[in-house]
Amino acid sequence: MKDVYVATGYKKWGMTTSNIAAKIITAKILGKTNKYEEIFTATRLRPIKNRWELGEMVKESTKSLILNGKKVPRCAHLGCKLSWNNLEKTWDCPCHGSRFDEKGNQIYGPAIKDIEIF
Ligand code: FES
Repeated sequence: MKDVYVATGYKKWGMTTSNIAAKIITAKILGKTNKYEEIFTATRLRPIKNRWELGEMVKESTKSLILNGKKVPRCAHLGCKLSWNNLEKTWDCPCHGSRFDEKGNQIYGPAIKDIEIF
């Protein structure tokens, strides 16, 4: 819709990225451009043009499913499905940013308990 702006998906980085979103939206309202607009635009992922990135995303999400058979671990905070971070070898929660090591030990809150790895 024209003149309707939505900023979302901060993944625990709302204090920082909401300010960037506000600056981008302000620039758009004023008819200007912001140098970060392209980085944060919701349509930046173009599967046809960006097959490598899409392939990596599918590969990463598949790894987390394969790693634990059919079950994906749930966060000890509020129960969101965790994603396997193959680079850092951690289970990361997309909801509020909790992180767990390979064995399920809590390494970053807001979760305060470990998780069970199957
Ligand atoms: S549900 Fe995972 S950090 Fe909140």
